[in-house]
Amino acid sequence: MTLSGKRILLIVGGGIAGYKALELIRVLRKRGASVRCILTKAAQEFVTPLSAASLSGDKAYTDLFSLTDEAEMGHIELSRDADLLVVAPATADLMAKMAHGFASDLASTALLATDKAVLIAPAMNVRMWEHPATKRNLAVLREDGVSVVGPDEGEMACGEFGFGRMAQPDAIADAAAALLSGGAASPAKPLAGCRALVTSGPTHEPIDPVRYIANRSSGKQGHAIARALAELGAEVTLVSGPVALADPPGVAVVKVETAAEMLAAVEARMPVDAAVFCAAVADWRVARAGDEKLKKTPGGPPSLGLVENPDILATIAKRTSGRPVLVVGFAAETEKVIEHAKAKLARKGCDWIVANDVSTPAGGTGVMGGDRNTVSIVTRDGVETWPILDKTAVAQRLAQRIAEQLKDRQWV
Ligand code: C5P
Repeated sequence: MTLSGKRILLIVGGGIAGYKALELIRVLRKRGASVRCILTKAAQEFVTPLSAASLSGDKAYTDLFSLTDEAEMGHIELSRDADLLVVAPATADLMAKMAHGFASDLASTALLATDKAVLIAPAMNVRMWEHPATKRNLAVLREDGVSVVGPDEGEMACGEFGFGRMAQPDAIADAAAALLSGGAASPAKPLAGCRALVTSGPTHEPIDPVRYIANRSSGKQGHAIARALAELGAEVTLVSGPVALADPPGVAVVKVETAAEMLAAVEARMPVDAAVFCAAVADWRVARAGDEKLKKTPGGPPSLGLVENPDILATIAKRTSGRPVLVVGFAAETEKVIEHAKAKLARKGCDWIVANDVSTPAGGTGVMGGDRNTVSIVTRDGVETWPILDKTAVAQRLAQRIAEQLKDRQWV
C-alpha cells in the first residue's frame, strides 16, 4: 500500500521499541511518504535526533521552547503541516498525556494542536498495557477517534511475555496507508457494521473418553485475525478449537472440540459478511468413539475405523443462500504452494486462499505453532506474495485487505 506524497509527522516516545521507529521512518519513506520527527525527551535516551534526522532527511524536533525551531517551524505548524500523525512507540505516559489533553512538551503539544488523523502504535510492558489506567486511557483515545495498531503479543525486552510489543513497521505503515486512503466514513474503523467469523485452532476428535486425534495447530494465526478484524471495527465471532491462548479482546468466542461442533457453531452464526477459515480441522474422526476407555487386549491394538469430517469451509462457501460476501480459506503446503492453492480455491468454492508455505526453513516460518508466516494471497485475479511476517502482521495485513475488498458495501 503506497503512501505516495503523504506527509507524516512521526512522534517517537521513550521506550525500548524506539529502535523500531528508525526502521519505521525507512519503511514510510520507501512507500513514498515524507517524514518529519518529534522525539520526546525520554525517546532521546533510545534514539538520537541525529539518527532520526539522517533517516528522515529532515530536522528532528525535540524542544517546545527552542527559538530556532519556532522560527523555522512553529509547533502548531508541525502538526498542521502533516496529513497524519503517527505515535510510535506510544508509551503508557504519552497515551496518558494524550487522553488527558496535556501540552507539557513538544510531542503532547503537537498532538493536542492537531486536527489531523492520529495513529498510535502502543509499546510497553504487558502489566502496564493491562493496567486499568492504560485501558481507560485507550478507551478515551478510541472515543476521540484515535486509531490504534498493535500491540503485538510476544517476548518483551523485560523478559515477560504477553501483549505490549510495538507492531512491526510494515503493519504500522499499512495502518497509516489505510487511514489515509480516505473514502470510508470512519477510516479508523472501515469494518464498522461488518459481521465477521473466524475459525481457529485444531479440533480434537475423540477415540474414547480419554484419548483423541489432534494436530499441532496453536490457533495463533486465527486468533490474531479475529483480533485484527475487531480492531478495524468488525463484529467478530471466533469459533475456536482447544487452544492455550487468551480470548482476543472485543471478540465473541465460541469454544468447540470437534469438527462437527465447529460446523454447527459456524452454521449457527450465519449469515455473516466475511468468513475466514483458519482452523486446522481434523480430516477424519473415529466412526464410533468408545463410551469407555479402550483397554489393551492380548489380540493387539484396536483398529480405529475412521470416517471423513465435513469440510466446513467448502460447506459455507458453497451455500446457495446466505453465503458470506467474502470467504477466505487457508492452505498449508510444502511444495507447489501456488498450484495447490489455486486448485483448492476452485475445489472449495472460496474467494481467496491464504497459501502458507510450511517448507521454508528460515526461522521456522510457517511451521505450526511458530510465530512467523510466509503467505501468498491467491484469488481468481492473481497471486500476491507477502514477505516473511509475524502472525500478527499477517493478520493485520489480511484484515486491511478484507476491509479494502468490502469497502463499497453497505452494512445492514
Ligand atoms: O483441505 P485442507 O485441510 O488443506 O483445507 C484447508 C482449509 O479448509 C482451511 O481454510 C481450513 O480451515 C478449511 N477446512 C475446513 N474444514 C475441514 C478441513 C479444512 O474448514 N474439514
